[in-house]
Amino acid sequence: MYTRFRAKRLADVILVVALSLSRFSTARGDEASYHEQFRPQVHYSPPSHWMNDPNGLLRLGADYQMYFQYHPYSMVWGPMHWGHATSKDLVRWVNRPIALEPDERGAIFSGSAVYDRDNSSGLARDGVAPVVAIYTYHDHAAERAQKIRVESQGLAYSLDGGTTFEKRPGVVLKNPGKRDFRDPKVMWFSPTRRWIMTLVATDHVEFYSSKNLKVWRYESQFGMTRGAHGGVWECPDLVRLIGTNDGLQHDVLLVSSNPGGPAGGGGTQYFIGSFDGHEFRESNPSASPRWLDYGPDYYAAVSWNRDAESLDSPPTVIGWMSDWRYAVKVPTSPWRSAMSVPRKLTVVGSGDELALTTNPIDAFHSLQRERITYDLSLTPALRTFGPVRGAAFDWQLQLRNKNQSKFDVVLSNASGQETRLSIDPVHSEATFDRSNSGIINFDSHFSDLVKVPWLTHSETAELRIIVDQSSIEIFINGGRSVITGLVFPDSIYDRVQIAGDNNVEVTSATLAILDSIWAEPKHN
Ligand code: FRU
Repeated sequence: MYTRFRAKRLADVILVVALSLSRFSTARGDEASYHEQFRPQVHYSPPSHWMNDPNGLLRLGADYQMYFQYHPYSMVWGPMHWGHATSKDLVRWVNRPIALEPDERGAIFSGSAVYDRDNSSGLARDGVAPVVAIYTYHDHAAERAQKIRVESQGLAYSLDGGTTFEKRPGVVLKNPGKRDFRDPKVMWFSPTRRWIMTLVATDHVEFYSSKNLKVWRYESQFGMTRGAHGGVWECPDLVRLIGTNDGLQHDVLLVSSNPGGPAGGGGTQYFIGSFDGHEFRESNPSASPRWLDYGPDYYAAVSWNRDAESLDSPPTVIGWMSDWRYAVKVPTSPWRSAMSVPRKLTVVGSGDELALTTNPIDAFHSLQRERITYDLSLTPALRTFGPVRGAAFDWQLQLRNKNQSKFDVVLSNASGQETRLSIDPVHSEATFDRSNSGIINFDSHFSDLVKVPWLTHSETAELRIIVDQSSIEIFINGGRSVITGLVFPDSIYDRVQIAGDNNVEVTSATLAILDSIWAEPKHN
């Protein structure tokens, strides 16, 4: 009894100290610590502690808001809060105080945020329209009691531009008797003048509609017999965009699955189709599961909410750059996890050949400090580029492969640690190999070989590779397939090599050395 009491007192003291430290550590001004080993320099990561999914992605005036699943007192997942950061360009971030904390209804799981400009919710005050966050309450006590109704959807609103939130009592969408019922993504759907909520229930997506964000009506469901079902469906999103080649309007449904992703852990799959305010219909139901990213470390990807009318620019998505199999074990400190580079989504092709491409957003170019274009007319046999010095790198390579020969792309450092992509054009396949990438022994799955589609049947190929202190993102052939993988080498991979026979020729090689996003902004 005494011991238990003492343990509780001690826990309380630790909690209070941790609370004050964590509040301090998430405030602006702590970025000076972004120099630790493995600390991402061109990717968002919290100053300290555990982070997972991006949440509540919203543009408000000149600022992009990004909330995220956050445990401010621990290096591993626990009772979820919403952490918060803002950005003017989606590239450089400012850390903000925690936005939402657990309460008696549960922890604050993933969800979304909208700007209720016309005050449909009636939550405006003194003429200030609210930012409305809708998220999942996850009741850990009900879960321990093995109840079914563990997850429901709650609402909180902000009248100071998304910095602080007030919770509405109760929930806006009760649990209908489904154990997994979460991750609401809300958007304004102008054709029917309704808010649409897309959420997941174990193995399918459900759509709800509302006039006021507070009362929701069930519309339909999608996916029970579609796509990949190797795991629980999570973090859905519905994104409207215009096809680059066919000029037509398409709705893209993103759904993450864990496990069951292409690399064995989690992954974000997509469906192209159309949504009429009630139902989603896939345009090519015979298409097999397709993924935003085929690498091991890209999960829970969702987009920044934007006006349904502003379809002229591509939507931006961001993913959590880790995998649930080993996310709690990766050798970083005092933080765990980073977000991917923000990526623009494009629908290319037409008819049954429609596909999604993802590429770094244009604003990412603003980090380029120095560009090196290798003169291949002087050294046509050049195959190794680097070593180079920098916080992070952006490589762009063009290749010609007359005989469909096999070849490897090798990223490495002076210690001989490497990550290798072995390409077999004849079988339209590549293998991503991290078995000699640096620290790998924290989980046996980390060095699993990952098969990735190599979608080019022509002689030429294009690679864009973003290398940071502990990650690699490879965009193949204009982002038709993408590989994101974490790596923990002794020092950054500062060179790239194309290894293969003479049929494989590098026709262009450019390197941009990237500034850290945590560097003080430069003034001209
Ligand atoms: C996805 C997920 C979500 C959930 C959140 C909890 O990674 O499992 O489904 O809302 O993480 O942190």
